[in-house]
Amino acid sequence: MSDYRSQVDIRLSGGDPDFEAPPHVKEAAIAAIREGGPWTHYSFSGVPEFKEAVVDYYSKYGVKYEPSNVYPTAGSSPALMAVIANLLGPGDECVVFDPTFGTHFRTPPLFGATVSHVPLDVEGFHMDPDTLRKKVSDRSKLMILCNPNNPAGTVYTRKELQAIADVAAEHDIVVLADEIYNEFVYDDREHIAFPSLSEMKERTVVVMSFSKNFAMTGWRLGYYIAPDALAEKLRRLPVAAAPTTFVQKAGAAALTGPYEPVKMMREEYDKRRRYFVKRLNEMDGISCHMFEGAFYAYPDIKELGITSAKFVEEFAEKEKVLLSDGSRFGPEIAPGHLRIPLVLPVEVLETVATRMERYLKTL
Ligand SMILES: Cc1ncc(COP(=O)(O)O)c(C=O)c1O
Repeated sequence: MSDYRSQVDIRLSGGDPDFEAPPHVKEAAIAAIREGGPWTHYSFSGVPEFKEAVVDYYSKYGVKYEPSNVYPTAGSSPALMAVIANLLGPGDECVVFDPTFGTHFRTPPLFGATVSHVPLDVEGFHMDPDTLRKKVSDRSKLMILCNPNNPAGTVYTRKELQAIADVAAEHDIVVLADEIYNEFVYDDREHIAFPSLSEMKERTVVVMSFSKNFAMTGWRLGYYIAPDALAEKLRRLPVAAAPTTFVQKAGAAALTGPYEPVKMMREEYDKRRRYFVKRLNEMDGISCHMFEGAFYAYPDIKELGITSAKFVEEFAEKEKVLLSDGSRFGPEIAPGHLRIPLVLPVEVLETVATRMERYLKTL
């Protein structure tokens, strides 16, 4: 780790929530360890109670799966890997939106596939169907949709999702719907699950995680939901073994509720969002859209005339705050942005904003 990263006193670089897992979730894990039996022995394909809880949870979006369609994983990262590794190979193309979570476009080339980046509209980070069509080819086998989007917070509308669905159907593309921020959408927006669109269930693999929705990053729990038609293909390279069984018990408790802790987190992120985006927009040379979902501010700093990498390094050195370089989220739209996860309370964000203002005066 280089010096500037290790000497900061405020870290706003990783998307690790500053909340704890809900109390009833912790209790469920402790009780499961005490009970033993299925909760402390290995289960190759996942514990039935967990998979049933997933089916019930996801049915709130109007999609009905069977427990056999659910594959528990240790966080969503291995789920992403399982889908990409098993569905893509040399000569194939993976379509991703820009900006997006790095794993979405860094992993396919490891398996010989190329990546086609579809730039979102810089104003508000939504999608233009014509741009999408231009970026899809006969080689496109997989499209990765991050909804809500990390880092830009886009919550796709039904119209946009339908346009994506039309393209997927026309070109026979499988859609990986990374929906791990689904509980965090703001104002009157609604999370629309991709497989709920007509005829999309059969060509969609949903990837979910407990890391963000339930503030359980260190518990390492996630899952993917795949239709029967894709199940066998996805298991060819067994990169995602089932996770710790008593953690699955905790996951079932999280999904079953109560949901007050999730509501509390959503309200708190919303408060931080309103506060911090306003502060950013008051700074000369920085503009930030009011993001719609997830919990990242993604300000545009191009007017400042320095790269985002340089900003991150200098700001850390001078003001001891570590942000993340937004250009790491794609080659097209992402450069010239910072990504700031709002995973600290407003009082700390106030300090960050004050230090940013002070740093800007030195440019
Ligand atoms: C969009 C997205 N998908 C997947 C992940 C991986 O998270 P985890 O492996 O903790 O579930 C992240 C982490 O930040 C993310 O932002």
